[in-house]
Amino acid sequence: PLRAVAVGAGHYLPDRVVENAELESMMDTSDEWIRSRSGIERRHFAAEGQKTSDLAIAAARMALDNAGFEASSIDALVLATATPDQTFPSTATRVQHAIGMTGGFAFDIQAVCAGFIYGLANANALIVSGQAKRVLLIGAETFSRILDWNDRTTSVLFGDGAGALVLEAAPADGTPEDRGILSTNIYSDGQYNDLLYVDGGVSTTQKAGVLKMQGREVFRHAVAKLAEAGEEALLTSGLSVEDVAWVVPHQANLRIIKATAQRIGIPMEKIIVTVQDHGNTSAASIPLALSVANQDGRFQRGDLLLMEAIGGGLAWGAATLRW
Ligand code: ACO
Repeated sequence: PLRAVAVGAGHYLPDRVVENAELESMMDTSDEWIRSRSGIERRHFAAEGQKTSDLAIAAARMALDNAGFEASSIDALVLATATPDQTFPSTATRVQHAIGMTGGFAFDIQAVCAGFIYGLANANALIVSGQAKRVLLIGAETFSRILDWNDRTTSVLFGDGAGALVLEAAPADGTPEDRGILSTNIYSDGQYNDLLYVDGGVSTTQKAGVLKMQGREVFRHAVAKLAEAGEEALLTSGLSVEDVAWVVPHQANLRIIKATAQRIGIPMEKIIVTVQDHGNTSAASIPLALSVANQDGRFQRGDLLLMEAIGGGLAWGAATLRW
């Protein structure tokens, strides 16, 4: 059998850092409230005119460099985003052209904050079915463009950024000891559309709209669904919680991350946490955290990584990857 092995990671954060203190000057909020409720201390915002594709391109270049691959050797580019440059073409095809990927195919995935896990599931399917040998998987977002600055309950929680992962087909034994993606479990339940959504779009208002969230309800679903998905992903891989070297969770909220880790039974020392510096970057949050941790030298070859995410839909999932 074939496995999708991770061979390079990259990320990009816009230059502009917005500390909680700056938000205090814009609305009735406080650094203390934001920190204690979410763990967020700062986030990056894209500059005027800087698009999701610009962030994605920078992250993609770093990931390709990290893998030692030319863009022309990539045969599939999968971009997870809920904040595309335009309604069409896909942001993925803009990135494809910009990085000099001359063949293959590129497409976007829309699963909001679970986008990177959905992307892993798709990239893995392309590789194990033999449709692609090298996949560039990117999560990129500019959520600062869809925030309602009159809504302090949501606007303090999000940031902009991008992360990327290069995956390559490699022959494997088909055992849990293989390197590469071992499982991807994805789920959605549309009865919860109203818990987290954007109040606009092409076929409704013809405007982009702003983010609306019932924070408490999302929180309640998040911990239960993430823990269950994480356990499912381990079960599907034939592994147990003791085998996990690192958890790379979606970086929405430190309280959700802690509660989920506790429910699965994994100590906080094994959890990669970047939410304090990035805020919630939706589909970009996992690959961003992954690349930052990789750059720090935290991952050893053979380490088992567990990734999990939930977001609008609700859509959620988990995946295991042996580094
Ligand atoms: N600054 C100061 N006070 C605020 C702020 C703010 N930014 N926002 C809300 N408050 C006030 C509220 O008005 C409320 O005041 P009241 O009691 O006088 O009415 C009080 O703080 C408590 O508000 P709650 O909403 O009850 O606060 P809660 O403890 O539930 O925390 C939070 C809110 C952080 C949004 C929490 O519900 C949460 O983390 N939810 C999950 C959200 C999330 O992470 N979503 C993303 C996952 S999906 C995705 O990534 C897209």
